[in-house]
Amino acid sequence: MAKGECQTTNRGDYASDDEDEKPVQALDEEDIELLKTYGLGPYTKSIKELEEDISKMNKRVNDIRGVKESDTGLAPPSMWDVVADKEMMQQEQPLQVARCTKILNAGQDDAKYMINVKQIAKFVVGLGDRVAATDIEEGMRVGVDRTKYQIQIPLPPKIDPTVTMMQVEDKPDVTYNDVGGCKESLEKLREVVELPLLHPEKFVALGIDPPKGILLYGPPGTGKTLSARAVANRTDACFIRVIGSELVQKYVGEGARMVRELFQLARSKKACIVFFDEVDAIGGARFDDGAGGDNEVQRTMLEIVNQLDGFDARGNVKVLMATNRPDTLDPALLRPGRMDRRVEFGVPDLEGRTEIFKIHSSNMNCDQNIRFELLARLCPNCTGADLRSVCTEAGMFAIRARRKQISEKDMLDAINKVIKGYAKFSATPKYMVYN
Ligand SMILES: Nc1ncnc2c1ncn2[C@@H]1O[C@H](COP(=O)(O)OP(=O)(O)O)[C@@H](O)[C@H]1O
Ligand SMILES: [Mg+2]
Repeated sequence: MAKGECQTTNRGDYASDDEDEKPVQALDEEDIELLKTYGLGPYTKSIKELEEDISKMNKRVNDIRGVKESDTGLAPPSMWDVVADKEMMQQEQPLQVARCTKILNAGQDDAKYMINVKQIAKFVVGLGDRVAATDIEEGMRVGVDRTKYQIQIPLPPKIDPTVTMMQVEDKPDVTYNDVGGCKESLEKLREVVELPLLHPEKFVALGIDPPKGILLYGPPGTGKTLSARAVANRTDACFIRVIGSELVQKYVGEGARMVRELFQLARSKKACIVFFDEVDAIGGARFDDGAGGDNEVQRTMLEIVNQLDGFDARGNVKVLMATNRPDTLDPALLRPGRMDRRVEFGVPDLEGRTEIFKIHSSNMNCDQNIRFELLARLCPNCTGADLRSVCTEAGMFAIRARRKQISEKDMLDAINKVIKGYAKFSATPKYMVYN
């Protein structure tokens, strides 16, 4: 008690001292600095610096070693959680693949599923906790656990990896604006592909079936492949691109099987466009080769015909085909009800050529005042691919002359070289004959 009293009196003394001395004085910078050091030990600052140095050094060592934790996949042993990992392993057992052959009491609460586990037996089982009844359909592949054989997960259908590879994952970066000319053809194409996929109800209301397939034909290099890619970009549909020759296989029946799996894959998607490029590789008219045997290629084509008949016209699959020899295709492929829309991609007219020139020179470093229309006038009967090579060639002229910009003169020289010089290789006259 005595101690406490003593302190209070002391404090009182100080207070009275202050009051006597002077009126309030504002703290200046130095004072604030001094106050800030209150409570800090003598070495705090240097310790902090050292710590920073150490962490920097650690980082540098790791950088130089070039090893990150994510690379090895292993955290330091101090961070391992072995117990939880074991538990997880027990919960997620490896599953077995089975086929759900039949659903008993479908749609009701007490639905049971008949599954067929290959080489073991058939079972009638229920669903696991994590599957919804709506996810399971008859004939589906499912994953079942190994103890009670309950269905744990629905699996996608088994499809040949070569077929799966044909699916184009990322959208092509071509848009309608990259296609010059052939506006009418594009309009036709869009009407047949986009409309049924985006507004199926219009067709239902009218009671008609939209065309299932579209054949794009025209001379090489007029933008058939390009337009198909643009369509794929526009719709959100999955895009499967098949080159005709990919379907020609070594063994009998392989090509037909690939076609079947292709359409199976297509049907499993919400919306899908199947594009057969260079279809004349398989779609040629049937003929007797005199050897008495039947032709594997023809069988593949017949399977396509079959599949075309097989799916619903209002469904989610649209088939595009492209060829530059429409006359060689088998009539069975082209009959109404299969590929009943035919869109010609002709040689572009003057306006189209001007547009194509502008499209291809838009990302080149050109002079401002190039008269594209004049250039277009100088290339009659040229395809889009020809015009593109004119642009490339003009660039080459500029490079040869060590210039950074392409002038009109380069373009004219290029036209002379490409269009006049390579006339022998032009594909258009031949095509004209076939038409
Ligand atoms: N109408 C066009 N507009 C713009 N570029 C075109 C056009 N037609 C052809 N091309 C150019 O020619 C190239 C080849 O065209 P492509 O569509 O592959 O020809 P094909 O009709 O033989 O399938 C395209 O990549 C494109 O650069
Ligand atoms: Mg092509």
